[in-house]
Amino acid sequence: MMGQNEYIEKAKSLLKEMSLDEKIGMVHGSELFKTAGVPRLNIPGVSFSDGPCGVRQDFEPDRWCAKGTSQDYVSYLPCNSAIAATWNTKLAEASGSVLGEEARGRGKDMILGPGVNIKRSPLCGRNFEYFSEDPYLTRKLVVPFIKGVQKWDVSACIKHFAANNQETDRLFVDTKVDEETLEEIYYPAFYDAVKAGVYSVMGAYNKLNGEHCCQSETQLTKVLRDKWGFDGVVVSDWGGVHDTKCALESGIDIEMNVTDNFDEYCMANPLKEKIESGEISEDKLDEKVLHILVMMQRLHMLFGEERKSGSYNTISHQKSLLEVAEESIVLLKNENVLPLDIKPKERILLIGENANKMHASGGGSAEIKALYEITPLQGLSMILGGNNTVDYVAGYCSNTSEIQDSSWQATSLVNQENAASNTEDVKNQELMKYRKELHDEAIFKVKNGKYDHVIFIGGLNHDEDQEGYDRKDMSLPYGQKELLVDLLSIRPDMTVVMIGGNPISMDPWIDDTKALLWMFYNGMEGGRALAEVLLGRVNPSGKSPISFYKKLEDCSAHSLGEFGCEGEVNYKEKDEVGYRYLEANKIKPLFSFGYGLSYTDFEISDVRREGENVVSLKVKNTGKMDGKEVVEVYKKHKSNKYIKLCGFDKELISCGETKEVKIQVDATRDEKLYIGTSVDDIVAEI
Ligand code: BGC
Repeated sequence: MMGQNEYIEKAKSLLKEMSLDEKIGMVHGSELFKTAGVPRLNIPGVSFSDGPCGVRQDFEPDRWCAKGTSQDYVSYLPCNSAIAATWNTKLAEASGSVLGEEARGRGKDMILGPGVNIKRSPLCGRNFEYFSEDPYLTRKLVVPFIKGVQKWDVSACIKHFAANNQETDRLFVDTKVDEETLEEIYYPAFYDAVKAGVYSVMGAYNKLNGEHCCQSETQLTKVLRDKWGFDGVVVSDWGGVHDTKCALESGIDIEMNVTDNFDEYCMANPLKEKIESGEISEDKLDEKVLHILVMMQRLHMLFGEERKSGSYNTISHQKSLLEVAEESIVLLKNENVLPLDIKPKERILLIGENANKMHASGGGSAEIKALYEITPLQGLSMILGGNNTVDYVAGYCSNTSEIQDSSWQATSLVNQENAASNTEDVKNQELMKYRKELHDEAIFKVKNGKYDHVIFIGGLNHDEDQEGYDRKDMSLPYGQKELLVDLLSIRPDMTVVMIGGNPISMDPWIDDTKALLWMFYNGMEGGRALAEVLLGRVNPSGKSPISFYKKLEDCSAHSLGEFGCEGEVNYKEKDEVGYRYLEANKIKPLFSFGYGLSYTDFEISDVRREGENVVSLKVKNTGKMDGKEVVEVYKKHKSNKYIKLCGFDKELISCGETKEVKIQVDATRDEKLYIGTSVDDIVAEI
């Protein structure tokens, strides 16, 4: 293995042989997802692909037109929010490894993920692509995820740096955040990724404190490179660079865009002209090319080195993704309903569009051409077999077709109204009439169908959780609220499953619901995983990576700060993001950060602090089923208003077993530690 200095020396000698045009070819897209490379010197172009949920389908080089072959069907991963809900660092590594191996298998050099932005508001359309509202949980999962990706000679590209937390006016909004808040909330995941050796970072579309992130000297040069020592490649978001001089002087290395006028990109011909006229120096360009050449060596792309070949759609990938999906499902409520005890010949009714809906192909650039996606209806039917009847009625319907138009991305930056027009606002009389028919049909079935078990599977979909669009409020769309109220009055024992990337309002039906499961978009095996949890073949162990607010005003981004504004958005809530604000103000959410039930019970005892950074304790499984439990450690200095996560551990504990657990914590002696099973369920203080 070559060392860093050797990489730089070799890169420098290659650089000496390159003409200005050849260098410029390396710093901007010459296709929608590729740079030019220098064939004369055996330097290939860099090949990119989205994204966080799997390797995206291939497009024509210069058109947002899918190539449309069968070559690019791939494994569809649980979204990053689902990975976060596992609270399992090994599964984060396994997910990254699937993504890296598939990216390499598809011949890609850089995978445009993971997205590590903080979920500041439950309305952000891209929250499903992000991990959590908490920087500590995000950091701890992102590092193994990147390692998993990069072991396949593929660069992870953490995005979007930085403070990219809303989609409204996403290209131009000026995000105003003070330095301390950036350090505490919005930087940590990026910082840890850099320290863990991520090869690439993507700049955000938005401005941060007045500068466009993709050409920001403050963010890319002073913070990322000078302060944190990042020596990898910074890629712009597609269309995020606006000015040649600023770009050249900032730490950005590669400019990508959504249009096909590749030679006119800021870092193409306009850059050449400025260098030739002497307005800007070629040295800056050389620095960028050096970064790219060093990354290529790290990926073994140069000098005929042996490179991992990867593969995709393997059985072992499918198994790993099933495991992630199983551990990500969060049991939010259970009054002796789950697991369902389904006997032969019993009849089951599934109600709700999400029982029968595939989500892989939506959401924006995170879309996936999935080899398959098991829906909940399939999952349950497949497991139960021929001795049971599994019926389905939609009960409600969304507005649009399932398939995202592949020209979406080309127009998304020009016409930001595009996405919004897909939404619930498109109410027309016919749709309302049809929804009423679906509602009545579901009620009729429940009343007359003699079902032993009724399960509602609804929530959101990628018309709501999508790039380029923020929701207007937390309401549950498509008439589901009214449907749930009516269904629960007939079948109070009905299990409710919500699928989505963001919390929704559960008023007023939550009080009448006895069993509630939450599932983020859960990849190709999601429906099977859900069926296993419903039937008790898998004991749920997911914990919420977000707060489920009772109402939007309980979220600090909305009550103290601003969200979804055009022009400028102020993060006045500072570091009181997510549960921190709830804690500081004693506001109870519907379900807390870190919360999630199991089919068994656990007891924590003998909690001790060993030195500054280790907590030891015992966890006993006191119930009747083997299960996994997450022990969460929070910390608080006496000057703080809230407790915050500083350590966690997930363990499999057989029933009756007691396990001794040691948890590494990120805390100092003068901070008190709080140990529990959610931010609101603290069982010990030390
Ligand atoms: C998104 C990025 C994505 C890129 C390439 C942009 O619209 O913001 O996250 O990686 O497109 O598809």
